[in-house]
Amino acid sequence: MIELKTPDEIELMRHAGQITAAALAAVRDAAEVGVRLDELDEVAAATIAAAGAEALFLGYQPRSAPSPYPGVSCISVNDAVVHGIPGRYVLAPGDLVSVDCGARYRGWSGDAAITFIVGKHPDTGITRGDEALIAATRASLDAGIAAARPGARLGDVAHAIGTVARSTGYGLMEGHGGHGIGREMHEDPHVPNEGRPGRGLRLRPGLVLALEPMLIAGGTDAYDEDPDGWTLRTTDGSRAAHIEHTVAVTEHGPEVLTQPVSTYAER
Ligand code: MF3
Ligand code: CO
Repeated sequence: MIELKTPDEIELMRHAGQITAAALAAVRDAAEVGVRLDELDEVAAATIAAAGAEALFLGYQPRSAPSPYPGVSCISVNDAVVHGIPGRYVLAPGDLVSVDCGARYRGWSGDAAITFIVGKHPDTGITRGDEALIAATRASLDAGIAAARPGARLGDVAHAIGTVARSTGYGLMEGHGGHGIGREMHEDPHVPNEGRPGRGLRLRPGLVLALEPMLIAGGTDAYDEDPDGWTLRTTDGSRAAHIEHTVAVTEHGPEVLTQPVSTYAER
């Protein structure tokens, strides 16, 4: 069932989105060479708690998962695409890191992800094409956001995301996409990362979607699950990028609720 949110509910989701954005910014600031992933997860936890919110991911257990999710964030390094558990791995120069995080504020959710390169320095030259992969992922997400206008259809959003991603020659993680979001992290509708324009649900003000392209450098779509039951890695061993925003469809067009707004930092 698709639940449209009222303007008051979207205002609460804006708060949840800004707290999520703040947690991601704090993790990114702390993500230096030599830092462990579980230390970064603590940074995310502290930021969310200080804002009076709850960690959205901690303890989350979809039917398919073997165990409740053990972290506040998902941190997926290099060939890990999504759902990496932040453990004792120590960041190395040139690591490609995706951080996915969510917060619940007064019952309403925010969900977002960023991808960045660790320890990048003009002299090191260690980028391995990762910058282009990140740029393509961002362009794909931006196209999806731009398509999330009232009157458009879900297929237009999926088509926009998929067309930009495919035009780059990168792979798109098979069978994965975005989702409706509100009181729950995962609500209807599922938002495929490829689709046919003019098809599917008509978008109306109050619909809130998490859009999240996952691009694979090697150009194939296949992935495998780690023995931990969570981490999903590229089958070809190539690197992957994942960027996500929570986006509200408003009568004026798309509003990115997880886009950092500078004035929030001053509150
Ligand atoms: N942003 C992720 C998603 O939409 C959520 C991570 S799954 C969790 O799939 F289990 F870690 F919560
Ligand atoms: Co999501």
